[in-house]
Parts: sequence; C-alpha cells; structure tokens
Amino acid sequence: MAFATETVYGLGADATNDSAVAAVFVAKDRPRFNPLICHYPDADTALDDVIVSAVARRVARAFWPGPLTLVLPRASRCSVSLLTSSGLETLAVRVPAHDVARSLLQQVGRPVAAPSANRSGRVSPTTAQHVQAELGGRIAAILDCGSCDVGVESTVLDLCFAQPKLLRAGGVTIEAIENLIGPVESCSGAAKSIRSPGMLASHYAPGLPLRMHATELGKGEALLAFGAPLPGASLVFSLSDRGDLIEAASRLFAGLRMLDEHAPTLGLTGIAAMPVPDHGIGRAINDRLRRASAPRPLKEGSRP
Ligand code: TXA
Ligand code: MG
Repeated sequence: MAFATETVYGLGADATNDSAVAAVFVAKDRPRFNPLICHYPDADTALDDVIVSAVARRVARAFWPGPLTLVLPRASRCSVSLLTSSGLETLAVRVPAHDVARSLLQQVGRPVAAPSANRSGRVSPTTAQHVQAELGGRIAAILDCGSCDVGVESTVLDLCFAQPKLLRAGGVTIEAIENLIGPVESCSGAAKSIRSPGMLASHYAPGLPLRMHATELGKGEALLAFGAPLPGASLVFSLSDRGDLIEAASRLFAGLRMLDEHAPTLGLTGIAAMPVPDHGIGRAINDRLRRASAPRPLKEGSRP
C-alpha cells in the first residue's frame, strides 16, 4: 500500500515478510541490489533494530521524527527480512514526521519497508495522483493524504564508521547535521554507489532531457524557473517566484512531472532548469536535478 510521508509517498510493506518485500521490488521494477528504508513510529523501535552509537542517538534525538534516514549495523535480534536490505549487514532506519504515516506505523506494529512509490529510476511522487500514474494497477491501495510538505526524499546518513558519511542529500540539511556532530564526509562517485547502491547517476529522471544551470532558453525547451523566469518560454513551471528553497523543494517533483506531461503537446523536446543556490535544501534540489540530467542507462531492447 502507498502512503504519504513528509518527504514523498512511499510504497509500504511489512519489512519482516519476505514475500511482501519481494512484491515491492516487483511493483517498482526495482533492482534487487538496491536496499529499502525501514520506517518506524518512534525512535525507540527504530533504534532497537540496529547497533546504536552515541552519535546515532544524538542525531536521532535531534532530527526524528523527520526527513532523515540513518544507516547503521543491523542488530542480531533484528527481524527485518534480508531482502529489505538486499543482504547488506546494515539497515537504513527512519521515523517520518507525518501524522497519518506515524499512526499507520503504530497500528502495523512492525517495521515497514517503503521505497518511494514510483517506478524505479523515475521521479518520486508527492501526491496520490502521482502514485496512481506510476503504480496504478500494480499495487493494492493508495492512502491519499494530499501533497507532501518537504517534497524531496530524506537525507541518508551513514553512521557505521567513525566518520559520518552523507549518502544522499535530502530534507535535513547537511549544515544542520554538521552543527550537531561536526564534519560529515560527502560520499560521491564510486564510493557512494558501493555504500548505497540506489545512488545511480541517472535517477529521478523525467521523460524529457533536462539541462541544468540554464541562463538562457534554448530552442524547444520548457522552463523550470527559480526566481524571476527567463524570458521567452512557452511553458514555465515556477519552483518559487520569490526564490525560496524550501518552497522550491516541495514543488520540484510536481514541476518535473507537469513539464514532462505538457511539453510534448507544445512541440517542446527538453527542459531547461534555472540555477538553484547550492546550500541548505538547495543541495538536495541540485542533487536531484543532476541525476535527472545525467545520461540515461539504456533500457533492455532499446538501441543506442
Ligand atoms: O524520504 C524517503 O526516504 C522516502 C520515504 C518514502 O521515506 N523513501 C525513499 O526510499 O526515498 P528509496 O528506496 O527511494 O531510497 C532509499 C535510498 C536508496 O538510495 C538506497 O540505496 C538507500 O536509501 N539505502 C537503503 N538502505 C541502505 C543501506 N543499508 N545502506 C546504504 N544505503 C541504503
Ligand atoms: Mg526512490
């Protein structure tokens, strides 16, 4: 079943049930090597499934419930299916800050494995309608809770080693984490794809090619605007007229979907994204735009 969190909609399954978890991978066409995040109603139940350091406890106390996922070594008593974590010795745990999600998690009484409720490699859903468009007919139910406040996925922080590592920029800013625990290493490139197999270069991709840092509009391009829009576009989605990063994050995925849907009817063949400042939640926005603009892996059966 799909449900809302404060970040994006997730496709939830009982994380302790192998066949329920397998069904999530099938519905999303998700590669089995890409582990899922486990969701809990509170920090106590979440930290019970992992081996907790003092730093992890501090971070959890400061940011949970909230848009932060912690990767920690799996506890021996942990009953989460190994399929959930793709056979890794670590587990990604998170306590969402969303009333409906938390009461759902309380009632289920077990960890809920929930990736974003989109087909693998595509833009995450921030409304029930997006979920319907992505997975309608493939899943049992969608709990419609309106649109998600944060709009980009949770920050993924790896606390398995002495040096904390950022695996994915997201709803909790790196600045806020560093204020609490000191320097966090930004894991990139090959290291990141080994630590966090979901961090493929091309991800969060709309159907149309996307160009970042656009300071003028090219021929045939729709515009993803931040601040005052560039002139001349026949199709514009404004992330935030007043240049507000939090508003922009909450509108990012809806904007990519809107441009993708309407551009072809106007004969447009690409998306130009205006520059977004690279601080605070702007880092998560730029991370998603970078992935959306990365070369796409060839699909089976497609030609170069
Ligand atoms: O905001 C979110 O995090 C949403 C909502 C539904 O909670 N979920 C989400 O899940 O974005 P998903 O599956 O789309 O992204 C989870 C990311 C993947 O990139 C995956 O590789 C990484 O977390 N991950 C999960 N378990 C991991 C682990 N044990 N070690 C390293 N990375 C892990
Ligand atoms: Mg996802």
